[in-house]
Amino acid sequence: MTVAKPRVVVVGAGIIGLGIARDLAHRGFGVVVADPDPSRGATRVAAGMLAPVAEARWGDERLLPLALESARRWPGFAEELANESGADLDFHSDGILLAAVDADDRSVVEDLQVLHERNHLRTTVLDRSEVRDLEPALSPSVHLGILTHGDMAVDPRRVGAAMRACLPRLGVEVAASRVEAVETDAGRARGVVLDDGRSLASAAVVVTAGAWTPGIAGIPEDALPPVRPVKGQILRLRGEPLLDRPVHAFVHGNPVYLVPRSDGELVVGATQEEMGFDTRPTGRGVYELLRDAIAVVPEVAELELAEVSVGFRPGTPDNLPIIGESRVSGLWFATGHHRNGILLTPVTVSVVADGLTTGTMPREFLPYSPTWPVRRAPMMVPT
Ligand code: GLY
Repeated sequence: MTVAKPRVVVVGAGIIGLGIARDLAHRGFGVVVADPDPSRGATRVAAGMLAPVAEARWGDERLLPLALESARRWPGFAEELANESGADLDFHSDGILLAAVDADDRSVVEDLQVLHERNHLRTTVLDRSEVRDLEPALSPSVHLGILTHGDMAVDPRRVGAAMRACLPRLGVEVAASRVEAVETDAGRARGVVLDDGRSLASAAVVVTAGAWTPGIAGIPEDALPPVRPVKGQILRLRGEPLLDRPVHAFVHGNPVYLVPRSDGELVVGATQEEMGFDTRPTGRGVYELLRDAIAVVPEVAELELAEVSVGFRPGTPDNLPIIGESRVSGLWFATGHHRNGILLTPVTVSVVADGLTTGTMPREFLPYSPTWPVRRAPMMVPT
């Protein structure tokens, strides 16, 4: 006799929630995903740089082991998903070019070079002519580059669509409903209440609602992750392909990245603004992104501006994600991924799916857990 695995409700259908649902369904769990607008949150907006090296920063070294581990898993994760769904994810593994425009930008990039060396990250430093041999569309003002060999890129919209395409075959229901509340009883999660009035009982609830996590009622205050929205404006342009790989540049002190897709789309991002859930694209946001992108690749000025979008990264006080079971038994979180949600998807998916299957977390992932004592103490829930 086979014993049915319990039901899990996943709150949020970004690629982390969908990935967890897919993995759990493969393991025989019954899964319902609830989201009023599947894959329309940060997944829809993100550029999809998988850049543990190009986006490594001084002060965020505690993120690096998790980021590198997830990057290691991306090629296999993408291949498996592409095979299962039949979709092309526009996955690229040609590295990312870090570029500097003026002398101050050069010293920022040189500081990053020290960070790379200290952490034994594989890079090649390129001078003015070498950067243009690699990417001929770059402006002559780019005078230093670092090619980060292990970095990659993927189209998050395609990943979300591919995951959704797999779910019906696996028996996963995606409910286009908002979770109003998590239901708990005697220190245990018992299920959720949807905005259509339905109650879904479950053995576990996994909240993957990104910046929207604090808006879910019913989570005891001492278990609520301290997540805040960090606004990002991002552009999508179309035309002749200009770049072979993403370029992450510093332009007179401002960071800007340009991520090419195979179909000629170029994603230019992104502002970083502490504005709460302000959904407005602004003149300044669009102006600064275009100004800096054109300084790096002058022909960007000739492309069609196809889309301006606004997204909300789930920021945390210590810039680390929150992955694992909370103080409320059966209530799991996979949120707070800030600038790295797409990169951290494979590792987050397997930490949560393994955790729900075995009831434990491997030691190396405990520092990212919501109950890890060192991080619990100084965290503050934003008002
Ligand atoms: N990781 C890119 C961003 O958050 O804008």
